[in-house]
Amino acid sequence: MPFFKLTDEQMMIQSMVREFSRKVVAATAEERDKSKEFPIENLKKMGELGLMGMMVPVEYGGEGADTISYVLALSEIAYSCASTAVVMSVHNSIVCESIVKFGTEKQKKKYLPMLADVEVIGAFALTEPHAGSDPVSQNTTAVKDGDHYIINGTKRFITSGKNGGLVIVTAKTDESAKHRGISAFIVEKGTKGMVVGHEEDKMGLRASDTTDLIFENCRVPAENMLGKEGDGFKIAMTGLDGGRIGIAAQSVGVAQACLDAAVKYAKGRDQFGQKISKFQGIRWYVAEIATEIEAARQLMYSAAALKDRKEKFTMQASMAKLFASEMVNRITGKCLQIHGGYGFTKDYPIERFYRDARVFTIYEGTSEIQKIVISNNIFKDKRKP
Ligand code: CAA
Repeated sequence: MPFFKLTDEQMMIQSMVREFSRKVVAATAEERDKSKEFPIENLKKMGELGLMGMMVPVEYGGEGADTISYVLALSEIAYSCASTAVVMSVHNSIVCESIVKFGTEKQKKKYLPMLADVEVIGAFALTEPHAGSDPVSQNTTAVKDGDHYIINGTKRFITSGKNGGLVIVTAKTDESAKHRGISAFIVEKGTKGMVVGHEEDKMGLRASDTTDLIFENCRVPAENMLGKEGDGFKIAMTGLDGGRIGIAAQSVGVAQACLDAAVKYAKGRDQFGQKISKFQGIRWYVAEIATEIEAARQLMYSAAALKDRKEKFTMQASMAKLFASEMVNRITGKCLQIHGGYGFTKDYPIERFYRDARVFTIYEGTSEIQKIVISNNIFKDKRKP
């Protein structure tokens, strides 16, 4: 529970998504981890439930829900399948939110309904082979040619790069202007010159595809620019602020799944003539894990509440992301330890949770980047890494 009371509507959304997630999403999560099959049918059902345009205003086909409702829903999906959750997170937090915030009326009317209805999955292409933590050093270019821009370059580690149907891409429109020379474009799948490249074979989140996107003389209509020329870095950073609350929500969801699995195992496992849940060593582990999850949950709520109040939430989003992603990596190990040797096998889901959580301290800004954002906000200067 948050330190404030959830509204009836927020609790209703949480319980509706919990039921759906534990019945429908959980049913195929283990199999998808093996087969790497993209969960498109579940994502479509999530669209029908209003989960894929959650914070999109109603007039553009969304639910008009607040961020608290969104993180409750995302945590519930992550509880069952972290692969499905990351697709939901990038789609809602970064792609839909960036179009809501920076899109023209025409872009909002064209793209938001199709995202909310899951006609297309949204992807976000900022990272490049040599520009991860430092996206200002990206090399992709967009050169104006009449009423089009011609994009050239390679994007890397793109969530839903293969299965996505609409990508927000950043590219340099003015080399000399550094971060103010980066612009953002909405590129639709099928646009000539945008090709899906290498697909990563990842240790976790295996049902979510992560690919290169290669742009070779890709002509994008100038009207597809998101925001103004030079706004791309600001759009990316603003999107990532919201995205980082989403990663905190994923971390909380996976952590809760780990704790519940460990408690269930401890209650069923006998050693030395009693259930291992009776041993103080296990009980203290469980008490510490539950406390860590609760602390992360409160940071997640705090960042989401600030965003809902339209206050600046950059620092709180980074704090929530930093603490929650580090927390889930601490506790997956402990929950696996409670499972003993069985935790190291694929007979129990804890092994999948352990692998899935590993990337949470890395993507959408590493823990080290979150510390830069937090300390820059405290010192109120812009010290470089
Ligand atoms: N909101 C709005 N604007 C922001 C901002 C924010 N949160 N943070 C910075 N800016 C603006 C600043 O105001 C500044 O603009 P002006 O000069 O016009 O005022 C400009 O951006 C540059 O700011 P900095 O000097 O602080 O930028 P920097 O180059 O030092 O970088 C950084 C800051 C925090 C290190 C940033 O580069 C960063 O977040 N890096 C990590 C990138 C990242 O998270 N990548 C993950 C990619 S997505 C992904 O993981 C894949 C996926 O699909 C899940």
